[in-house]
Parts: sequence; C-alpha cells; structure tokens
Amino acid sequence: MSEKVRRSIPFNTPDISELEEKEVIDTLRSGWITTGPKTKELEHRLAQFCQTSKVVCLNSATSAEELNFRICGIGESDQVIVPAYTYTATASAAIHCGAEVVFVDSQKDSTEMDYEKLAEAINEKTKAIVAVDLGGIIANYDKLYEIVESKKDLFKAKKGDDLGARIQQSLGRILIFADSAHSLGAMKDGKMAGQVADFTNFSFHAVKNFTTGEGGASTWKDIPGIDNDEIYKQFQLYSLHGQSKDALEKIQIGSWEYDIIGTWYKCNMTDIMASIGLKQLDRYPKMLNRRRQIVSQFNKACDELGVMHLDHYGDNFASSCHLYLTRIPGINDQMRREIIIKLAERGIATNVHYKPLPMMTAYKNLGWNINDFPNAYNYYENLITLPLYTKLSDEDVEYIISNFKEIVSPYINKV
Ligand SMILES: Cc1ncc(COP(=O)(O)O)c(C=O)c1O
Repeated sequence: MSEKVRRSIPFNTPDISELEEKEVIDTLRSGWITTGPKTKELEHRLAQFCQTSKVVCLNSATSAEELNFRICGIGESDQVIVPAYTYTATASAAIHCGAEVVFVDSQKDSTEMDYEKLAEAINEKTKAIVAVDLGGIIANYDKLYEIVESKKDLFKAKKGDDLGARIQQSLGRILIFADSAHSLGAMKDGKMAGQVADFTNFSFHAVKNFTTGEGGASTWKDIPGIDNDEIYKQFQLYSLHGQSKDALEKIQIGSWEYDIIGTWYKCNMTDIMASIGLKQLDRYPKMLNRRRQIVSQFNKACDELGVMHLDHYGDNFASSCHLYLTRIPGINDQMRREIIIKLAERGIATNVHYKPLPMMTAYKNLGWNINDFPNAYNYYENLITLPLYTKLSDEDVEYIISNFKEIVSPYINKV
C-alpha cells in the first residue's frame, strides 16, 4: 500500500456547514416549515444564478423533468428521444407521462448521443429530445437545435389552446430538454446551465454538488407569446394537487376557500429544504472552485497513467465538476470489477456512471437490447467513477491518486 495509514473514503459526503444548520433551525422555529417564503426566495436566487426568468423548486429532478413534459403537453402517442447512456429518471419521467421512449446510442468514446443516429430516429411522432449534461458538462445543444430545425417539417404541434399546445405551436419544432441533474453552475459559450435548452431540470439530491437533501428545480427559456407567470402558475398547480391556492395563501384572512383545478401531483419543495439550499447557494462558488482543484489533480494523474477521463473545462466551457469518470484502456468488465474491489479494500469507495439503460430489467422488458448500443456498452465496460466532493481533504485526494495509480497500472492495456 502506498501509504501506511489506511483511510476510509466514502463515495460521497454532503457538504453541510453551520450556516445551513442555523438556517434550518431558523425555519423550524419560524412557524412555517412547508412551501413558503424561503422556497420563493430560493427560486428567485436560483433564477438570478442561472440567468433565467423563473425557477420552480420541487421535490426532485425526476418531478421537475416530468412536470417539464406535462407543461409542454407531451404525453401519450408522443415519442421522446433519450440517450441510452444515462440514469433511469431521464427516461422514466417521459414514461410517467405516457410517452414512448426511444433510446439513441452514444458517440464512440463519449457520453453524448450520436447525433447522426439521433437525426435518423426522428419521425412524425417525435416531440422531444432530452440531452443529459453528464458529470456536469453541458452537452452540444447547438447541434440539437440544428437537427430539430432541419426536421421542422416532420413536427406536428399539439392541437388546441391549452398551455402545452400553445408552447408547441409557438416553438414549431421538436422541444429540447436538458437533464441537468448534475450541472447546476456549469457554463458553455457564455451561457449557464438552464439557459441553453427549452426546459431544464436540476437535482438537489443528497449526492449532488448542491443539495437540499432531496430536491430539484425546473427552469426554461422565454417562449414567444407565452407568459412566464402562466408557466410558473401551472407548475404550482401540478405540484400541489391542482389546488388553486397554496398553503400560505390559504392562511390569509378570509382566504380559506380554494378550488381543485385538476387531479394532479404532490411534489413541492418545503421551506426546510429551501433553507439548506439558500446557504448552499451562498457557498456554491467556493464549492465549485474546490471541485475544480480536485479535478485538475485527478486529470494530471490520469494523463500520466494514460487513463481516459471526462474533460471538465476548456476555453469555452466549465462544468460543475460533478462526477469524475475514468476509463482504463484495454480492460474488460471483469477487470474493472476487480479494480473496484481492490480500491474498496484500501478504503476507497468508487462507482460506475452508468450501466446503460438497455441493460436494466425494466428497459429490457420494454424490448431494448444492449447489443444495439455498442458505444454505450464500450463506454461502460471499463469505467470507474472516482469520489469527487468538497469534503475530500488534500490528503484524501493524494491517497486516492496514489492508490489508484498503484492498483490500475498493472491492468492498463492488459487485454
Ligand atoms: C442524470 C440524472 N437525471 C435525473 C436524476 C434524478 O434526480 P432526483 O433524484 O433528484 O430525482 C439523476 C439522479 O441521480 C441523474 O443522475
């Protein structure tokens, strides 16, 4: 072992300071703990941070993505294109709405979709494409907009005058959604995550860069002819039982009466969660810097070893440095599993992001077969995700690097 003292490094630990603790206590003592002023403040501050007009905070990114589809009127008889290489929520949110998911393989040695195959998958039923900002790196939305513009003649907007129909009619093309569960704070070509797709969802789950325990948010780009307040109001209705007044409005003098507009969902954010988020947001720029420092140390080690890794920053982009994916050249799945165990024996927990969805039972049962996604499989086969979070000390980072080098070196190009 390269260091005498064995460390114990979990895959992730949330970074919660005294500031978050105090803010939560303040909320608990305030007499108002569910959706209320702190949730509204967090929405307002996140919109400023993402440089978008509005943000809606919810209980998860999965709810945010599902409501994004519902707001846009996407549902039964529609197809939604999703990368095969992602977490289940990207696809399941579309399935919850009744849409049919169409998987697209990745480009060779990339987490991004193969844009030629994506263009071929588009037909008259295609209503939406979801791109994933995997690991915190903003995907190629310019390319996606170019593709949907070139396929405009195939697009059939929903008929009618409900909000979803009007959004589809106004855009007049396939809608682009960003699953930015990993990428709050990422930027590309001068734009923040949240500003690039038509609708975006973020995750504030416990393992994410920015957490509210569980939690998530939606934001969107302004749409010609559609009032952002109408969109915001519809999110509120969808997330709170279709109730015409939220709990705070109902306690105003004489305001007990409310209507139920639709038999909808319950996925609001509480003020307890939002209070964690408010202090995370104060600390977030520093947290992003720390992540970037760790990434640059990992990059140096991987480059010396000849191990492939995601590129988290370049001239025109900076990711949120959420996940550090490494790929060991020439190893197979069995060897990858051995390496993960050897690292674990030295106290280093690692992970795999992701086992492609067509390998999972639920998606196999829907008829998908991993043999049709060779690039996604090849990317997965030799992949190990290293721990990357702000609570790692410099000594932890050195320990991960030295043990990773020692364990991985003998495997490189072994097959
Ligand atoms: C790519 C991606 N999308 C969506 C989600 C769902 O996030 P949440 O747990 O907040 O619903 C995750 C969660 O890990 C994810 O990794």
